[in-house]
Amino acid sequence: MKLGTREEITVAGGRIRVRSSEYDILAVEIEGEVYAVENLCSHAGVSMHNGRLRDFTLTCPSHLAQFDVRDGAVRREPLEGDPENVCPQRVFPVTSDGELLFAEVPDGMDWKWFD
Ligand code: FES
Repeated sequence: MKLGTREEITVAGGRIRVRSSEYDILAVEIEGEVYAVENLCSHAGVSMHNGRLRDFTLTCPSHLAQFDVRDGAVRREPLEGDPENVCPQRVFPVTSDGELLFAEVPDGMDWKWFD
């Protein structure tokens, strides 16, 4: 899934949201590397593209759960709601083809998400 060029991400403030019919991905540039993470929070599906990003930690603006954009690990459980509902965020490898960056997403629906 095409993310854009590194320059486009930089110009956009170091983060860019890219959507398709199956994916909603937030790409962030940190210390020269670009990471692609599922944009919809695993807790309750809220968009995190405007969440605070400090170091490698993305904070969901809704209930303030925190995730590591490198591996999706939960760094802090949500401060409201059922913390049992939060699970690691999906992350996607980022590859490049010339200037363009891509998130390597599975083809079709990722049923493993529902395991
Ligand atoms: S929706 Fe993200 S922490 Fe609740």
